[in-house]
Amino acid sequence: MAKQVSVFVKNRSLFFLVLMLFEAIHVGRAGRFNQWESGIGLPSERDDEPEDLDEKQLGTRWAVLVAGSAGYDNYRHQADVCHAYQVLRKGGLKEENIVVFMYDDIAMHELNPRPGLIINNPQGPDVYAGVPKDYTGEHVTAANLYAVLLGNRNALSGGSGKVIDSKPNDRIFIYYSDHGGPGVLGMPNLPYLYAMDFLDALKKKHAEGSYKEMVIYVEACESGSIFLGIMPEDLNIYVMTASNAQESSWGTYCPGMEPPPPPEFITCLGDLFSVAWMEDSETHNLKRETVEQQYEAVKERTSNFNSYVFGGSHVMEYGNTSMKPEKLYLYQGFDPATVNLPLNDLSPHTGTGTGTGMEAIDQRDADILFLWQMYKNSEDGSKKIEILKQITEKMRHRIHLDGSIDMIGTLLYGPAKGPAILKSVREPGLPLVDDWQCLKSMVRLFETHCGSLTQYGMKHMRAFANICNSGVSQTLMEEACVAACSGHGPIQWHPSNQRYSA
Ligand SMILES: *[C@@H]1O[C@H](CO)[C@@H](O)[C@H](O)[C@H]1NC(C)=O
Repeated sequence: MAKQVSVFVKNRSLFFLVLMLFEAIHVGRAGRFNQWESGIGLPSERDDEPEDLDEKQLGTRWAVLVAGSAGYDNYRHQADVCHAYQVLRKGGLKEENIVVFMYDDIAMHELNPRPGLIINNPQGPDVYAGVPKDYTGEHVTAANLYAVLLGNRNALSGGSGKVIDSKPNDRIFIYYSDHGGPGVLGMPNLPYLYAMDFLDALKKKHAEGSYKEMVIYVEACESGSIFLGIMPEDLNIYVMTASNAQESSWGTYCPGMEPPPPPEFITCLGDLFSVAWMEDSETHNLKRETVEQQYEAVKERTSNFNSYVFGGSHVMEYGNTSMKPEKLYLYQGFDPATVNLPLNDLSPHTGTGTGTGMEAIDQRDADILFLWQMYKNSEDGSKKIEILKQITEKMRHRIHLDGSIDMIGTLLYGPAKGPAILKSVREPGLPLVDDWQCLKSMVRLFETHCGSLTQYGMKHMRAFANICNSGVSQTLMEEACVAACSGHGPIQWHPSNQRYSA
């Protein structure tokens, strides 16, 4: 019927008047005219939106959402991802076009004070309801992520089988939240996601010509290192990361911090960069807000307004930054409820105060904070001792990892140069490592002799990268690992003189 009308109505404003009347009469069917939304507003608003393309011209919007962790102390990563799912669904993306990776051990966790629910903001609603269980538990793997991205069902192992079956005109949004380290992102099942493998998958996808453009948001420690020096500009991909290549990213809405979660929560509800983009998206008209405006707003908030005083990190960009003038709805969709929200407003939009910042915790200390909260809240004496033991164990393991790496540095380069070589940062713009296979091998050697790196140990990836960059052979590295980790008894930390001894 709309088509017939348009044949006869030449005058644009009259046409929209007819449409508005039609809408008023058939309120329930208003959704059918989504593509005309820009025209239904005031004439001045209409002129602002020449880019508001017909949905048919747009192609399909796809999304891949990945929470790379498991465990209640990591509540926030899965909360972030569930929240992202809700943002995209409100934006009109279809469930069949959103692939979710999450371990799914939070909602029904015995420590969850709100069984069956997950929140990502102290005042926030449940974000868990309706989230599809595409890849959960043991199926949350880097290999499945690549298979999903490439639409390669044959390479999948378990899961719903949902993949990104995209066409040349489609757009893809990827969002990842978890721990990371230089060159790697965590996964709840080993191995880690290595930057070069991820980039190879992106390059393959580009070579297939099965998307128009892609936007990738990554929250993790040292997330910039995943793209620094290796992300090409010609893949039609724009990337935003929570932190640069050398710093942590930050958890927020944590117990004992401002703003705190509801008192019954002993774990952080979200991550600084993640809640910044999602709360920004929810409070703006994404048909008007550009990728660039979101970048500016998120950068402000994630740096705690350039103070870094409560924590905070440098939001970075990689890939094709010429895509920044694009409107966000092309990737995240458009929620009709936001149509009248202010335009170009770069101030923070949450109920958490304007420019006052948010307290945050280094991703790598959030698990200790969690245990400590559990310790404080526990009234049972034997339980308290058990928790203290866990904290001690965790700290001891960290000292073991840090000490082993130090010792390997000393064995390879001598006591004077060792620490400096392991920590050294390459010239600006250079990737973490030239030979990514070498990096994997060095990590494997270390883990064989010194035990698993774990979530915390990912911070030492730069040491392994530098060992590769300096041309150390695998044989030498293996000797050093054996000497550092199996030749002696457990490594002791002597706080009085700040030294380790075997
Ligand atoms: C980057 O994106 C813009 C906008 O889509 C495009 O015109 C340009 O060709 C892209 N640059 C490269 C190097 O591919």
